Amino acid sequence: MKKILIKKGTVVFPQRGVLQDADILVEDGLVARVGKGIEDTQACPVNASNLLVGPGFINLHVHLREPGRETEENLWTGSRAAARGGFTSVVSMPNTHPPIDNPLLVRYLLLRAKEIGLINIFPAGAITVGLEGKEMAEYGLLKEAGVIALSDDGRGVQDARLLYLAFQYAQYFNLPFILHEEDEGLSRGGEVSEGKVAALLGKRAIPRVAEESLMARDLVLAFRTGARVHFTHLSTALQVELLRWFQKKMPVSADVTPHHLLLTEEDVLQWGSEAKVKPPLRSLEDQKALKEGVKEGVISILASDHAPHPPEDKSLSFSEAPFGISNLEIAVPLYAKALIEEGIINWVELWEKLSYNPALFLGLNNKGILEEGKDADITIVDPGTRKKVKVSDFESRGKNCPFENWSLLGWPAYTIVGGRMVMAEGSIVEDEFC
Ligand code: DOR
Ligand code: ZN
Repeated sequence: MKKILIKKGTVVFPQRGVLQDADILVEDGLVARVGKGIEDTQACPVNASNLLVGPGFINLHVHLREPGRETEENLWTGSRAAARGGFTSVVSMPNTHPPIDNPLLVRYLLLRAKEIGLINIFPAGAITVGLEGKEMAEYGLLKEAGVIALSDDGRGVQDARLLYLAFQYAQYFNLPFILHEEDEGLSRGGEVSEGKVAALLGKRAIPRVAEESLMARDLVLAFRTGARVHFTHLSTALQVELLRWFQKKMPVSADVTPHHLLLTEEDVLQWGSEAKVKPPLRSLEDQKALKEGVKEGVISILASDHAPHPPEDKSLSFSEAPFGISNLEIAVPLYAKALIEEGIINWVELWEKLSYNPALFLGLNNKGILEEGKDADITIVDPGTRKKVKVSDFESRGKNCPFENWSLLGWPAYTIVGGRMVMAEGSIVEDEFC
């Protein structure tokens, strides 16, 4: 592998909260040097003037649909979409067909990811066998095979006793939880948020309390057991308050998606099933509270819940269409629009929430930090060039996206994974970079 020399970039150090002009030399998969005026005639040069250079983005929540629904997305198309989106690592959710609830499937995913060799794919394993919420999966075997976290994403674990035991059992294997919170008794049959849009469309609603009540229960279970838990895709103001309160008592984290920061229930009126997502898009007041949570640091991670679905499914009637939004390659400029353009956080803080904090949560000690000896997973962002979203250009097979034609700033320009250039100037590097 050839060396890479990134010249004249503005380097982001999220762990120290600073930006500095510096060059970076990448060699043998690692960051070899960070400093001013580095020269190396053997290295492939990258001109990063006017660009931001930082540790690679890590997306804690994506659906890659393999095995079982490879025509909708697979590790190859998902890796390409991630690389274009500036993500050097993703955590893939286990709600595949069959679900990732045994070591054989984990090994398959890791082998396939290595074969593709574009980005790091860290599989999450199921909390319960078949995601059925009835019986615990074998966490020891899952961990040994390589899962990084546990999740029944797509569903909440309804049985409190089962999750109480799971929270204790998983600690033997040091596995954290990524929790989708949804009380199915409260959400059953619901399609959109409770509120005026549900009333206008005559749709059954998913009340806020469906998420809030399960989250409150699981905060208590985590407090009592000491489990490491992360709440994914928050959507309501009360969830932010619950988290704020419990963070005074224990370490617990949460993330928010770009769509919950940028859209509200009213967008369902314009976009129909393209804006049908779980948890549902809620009110402007909820959105404001989520932004406030990000600003305060109560929500410390940004994760996209990339959920690709085929057009034939999304064009069914609203009630029959599946939940989910495809967003992997536009997540970063969407976050920039929601958070940076509105003055809520700056680029260094964005990097902290997209790289440093997720690496910390996952225990990836060599990622999330740009310094000598760390993994050369690097994302370079162009903060100044505006581009329009064209869903037909997505590498992802999922074209279900309500952001078509949005004009956005802050697109990833280069993605380097393990010292190899995998995306340059917006396109996947098919062969050698130079
Ligand atoms: O909208 C969603 N889609 N929410 C989820 O929790 C699951 C996901 C999917 O798998 O499509
Ligand atoms: Zn989910």
